[in-house]
Amino acid sequence: MSSPTAIPNLSHLWMPFTANRQFKAHPRLLTRAKGMYYTTAEGKQILDGTAGLWCVNAGHGRKEIVDAISRQAAELDYAPNFQIGHPTSFLAATAVAGLMPKGLDRIFFTNSGSESVDTALKIALAYHRARGEGQRTRLIGRERGYHGVGFGGISVGGISPNRKAFSAAMIPGVDHLPHTHDLSKNANSRGQPAWGEHFADALEGLVALHDASTIAAVIVEPLAGSTGVLIPPKGYLEKLRAITSKYGILLIFDEVITGFGRLGAPTASEFFGVTPDLITMAKGVSNAAVPAGAVAVRREIHDTIVNASASGIEFFHGYTYSGHPLATAAVLATLDIYARDKLFDRARKLSAKFEDAAHQLERARHVVDVRNLGLVAGIELESRAGAVGARVTEVFSKCMDAGVMVRYTGETIAVSPPLIVEEAQIDQLFGTLANVLKTVE
Ligand SMILES: Cc1ncc(COP(=O)(O)O)c(C=O)c1O
Repeated sequence: MSSPTAIPNLSHLWMPFTANRQFKAHPRLLTRAKGMYYTTAEGKQILDGTAGLWCVNAGHGRKEIVDAISRQAAELDYAPNFQIGHPTSFLAATAVAGLMPKGLDRIFFTNSGSESVDTALKIALAYHRARGEGQRTRLIGRERGYHGVGFGGISVGGISPNRKAFSAAMIPGVDHLPHTHDLSKNANSRGQPAWGEHFADALEGLVALHDASTIAAVIVEPLAGSTGVLIPPKGYLEKLRAITSKYGILLIFDEVITGFGRLGAPTASEFFGVTPDLITMAKGVSNAAVPAGAVAVRREIHDTIVNASASGIEFFHGYTYSGHPLATAAVLATLDIYARDKLFDRARKLSAKFEDAAHQLERARHVVDVRNLGLVAGIELESRAGAVGARVTEVFSKCMDAGVMVRYTGETIAVSPPLIVEEAQIDQLFGTLANVLKTVE
């Protein structure tokens, strides 16, 4: 325990994705972080079982990143990236491109996953227009998909609470694939479920309905995180790739969670051996030390858009902070750590131990499914009668009291520790969950 920190006035801040009234009645504040641990305002250590929000892949407070940010702030705090540039953003783009699948080596910087998604959707539309197929404007997402909170992202997204209040303002011409979750077939799968490849055939149905000539792109998370950890069935992503290629439809993998080692490879694309046309990323790209995001684009898509313009600006899109000096300094330092400490290999080697530890929970009370891949696991609980979500919220709270931070979404507990996690800490994470589940009604 370190000394407690005073709680500030909580009333002015409208917290994102938070039950504000409940939080402010029972606040939980984190004040410090180092390695695998947070410290709370009360001075208590909490094991980080979620890498913050799936983003602190190299662990907290990495000195090399802190130093790089502070050096950059002193040297060049800000420079525009519109019509003028600075070296760090070019260096960072080269470093990111080096980790992408072959061919996806043109990098557009953003500040978040939501911005990366909206950027990728716009690139898809601009590409078809540049090649003379401007009628290809339809975007296909997937039920239960999470692609951030921009209007593009919620339109292709498939999580109804994120959509319903804004449904009148969704972008038009969007359709959705079915999600791939079916507990009657796939409960307690280890790794990729054997059943469910056929869910990709629904794309043939959408092509038949709308005609390929109207469809610009399909966007999916290769492994869906925020909806509650849905692992793609074997063969599913391969089939999506084959169908999109057949009809000239772009395939976008939203790798905001899966990028940078979560599955034990630089990207899920490399892990699954399926190469999309665009990859969106954020979170782990800068170890979350400074907000950063990016879209990796197949070179031919970039060249088509850039060369279609006779002169002047080729793509009317960008953010004041695209390629911000501090963010790109953090990206460079983060990618150095991943390489030097071989953290993606480390995640891959730990994944069998992680899988075994997670599946110990199959027999725990209330658990209806355990699913996992790489260093991510979802533990789905049965809903409490008449109180959907109450049990999982209680589990989260009791785990925090027991010194372990997990996440919950719907009825699923998600575990996704930093890639520096030790074996004993994996045992602590799932052991704490097992103990807590015994105490929850
Ligand atoms: C797959 C995916 N896409 C997009 C986002 C949105 O990222 P951000 O919250 O940085 O806007 C997230 C966030 O969790 C995500 O998981």
